[in-house]
Amino acid sequence: MSTIDRTRLESLIAREEQRYRAEHPASRSLYSRSTHLFGRVPMTWMNKWAGGFPLGFSHARGATVTDLDGHELIDFALGDTGAMAGHSPAPLVAAVADRIGTRGGVTTMLPSEDAELVAAELSRRFGLAEWSFSLSATDANRWMLRLARLVTGRPKVLVFSYSYHGTVDETFVVAEGGRAVSRAGNVGAAVDPATTTRVVEFNDVEALREQLGHGDVAAVLTEPALTNIGIVLPEPGFLEAVRAACDETGTLLIIDETHTFSAGPGGATRRFNLRPDALTIGKSLGGGVPCGAYGLSAELAARVRAAVAGGYDIVDVGGVGGTLAGNPLSLAAMRAVLSQVLTDEAFGPMEMLATRFAAGVESTIERYDLDWSVSQLGARCEYRFARPAPRNGGDSAASADEALEDYLHLYGVNRGILITPFHNMALMCPATTTTQVDAHQVMFESAVGELLDA
Ligand SMILES: Cc1ncc(COP(=O)(O)O)c(C=O)c1O
Repeated sequence: MSTIDRTRLESLIAREEQRYRAEHPASRSLYSRSTHLFGRVPMTWMNKWAGGFPLGFSHARGATVTDLDGHELIDFALGDTGAMAGHSPAPLVAAVADRIGTRGGVTTMLPSEDAELVAAELSRRFGLAEWSFSLSATDANRWMLRLARLVTGRPKVLVFSYSYHGTVDETFVVAEGGRAVSRAGNVGAAVDPATTTRVVEFNDVEALREQLGHGDVAAVLTEPALTNIGIVLPEPGFLEAVRAACDETGTLLIIDETHTFSAGPGGATRRFNLRPDALTIGKSLGGGVPCGAYGLSAELAARVRAAVAGGYDIVDVGGVGGTLAGNPLSLAAMRAVLSQVLTDEAFGPMEMLATRFAAGVESTIERYDLDWSVSQLGARCEYRFARPAPRNGGDSAASADEALEDYLHLYGVNRGILITPFHNMALMCPATTTTQVDAHQVMFESAVGELLDA
């Protein structure tokens, strides 16, 4: 196995940082004069990009973004999935212009015709009977957890260690020595999440059964494959065992498809033939126009209705809702994306490109005898600094290497290629081309070569 020379890595990072600073004066200037922004960026996580300041954004189309210095980059980050439909695809532009301009009206507190059409399409794809909307996947998860506690009368939720479901209080917890521990860096938690949440490692059926055996978990909230700590794929039979453990203990199963929608037109739920009680999704559904959705099985919807009849409020100030949720603009965007962009036919070519991407990365890993791995889920793939690929969140977290990530990210940006800042994720959209995938491969091989060639 090759080992990374850390001194060499540091000097390469310094070289790339220097080039980045020199070639991005407009981005640097935007950052330094943004003194009214907390952290000099619109959202503090934007400081995560490598290089000391993020690229200033000018415009984007299809699978490319252009920064303020006029560099056009191939975008494999795609807004960490928010732009999986590609940037500003024509049907989305037309639907948004029609909604805002021609017909008029962004938010009204009234149902539009698009809402039922979108809900019917989500039912066809994911199998859940009844749908509600939010403005983000985070809120879809939050509200679904409330409904789960309502119908089960149980206080806790169970998540897998190092999962991410948005800024949902109950989910910032990891498993340490069999105990639930607040995740490092958890900001201003209202209560210790160990009191609200049970947590086990992904792919550990026995631990899951044991924790659900306490009988106090309202719902298991999980992605079908973890995607926020690298991609951690489910082992054969694991998701079926999760369903069975939920059934045996009267626990609801909520599947979060926000990222795993990359697995196909009906996400991993359809691809793996899952049977969730509820499903949450957001991000790419509206092509980047803020939106989210949560679907309930017919049985769960009936249980919620029965519980609500007992005096709970899901109409006004009971804790589930938002005045902008379900607005006509979001729904027009979702309708356009589902009916004309991320169609049934769109996913095959996207997946083929991801397969080509992954094969290229794997060939470099093998050529340089690296203990790295690449994992794929449909149109999404990711390289990780561990081999074999980690089988749970804890192992995957342990394989993180910030310096290596910074190096690869900066090396890419300096050569016109963008991958997701929080890890090494690459996503294909309908506009991504073979040429773009091959450009990544040239960059990746060259970055690794400079690091390892004697
Ligand atoms: C699986 C999953 N669920 C939910 C969310 C939350 O999405 P948002 O930040 O758009 O609310 C994310 C965000 O990365 C996610 O990865």
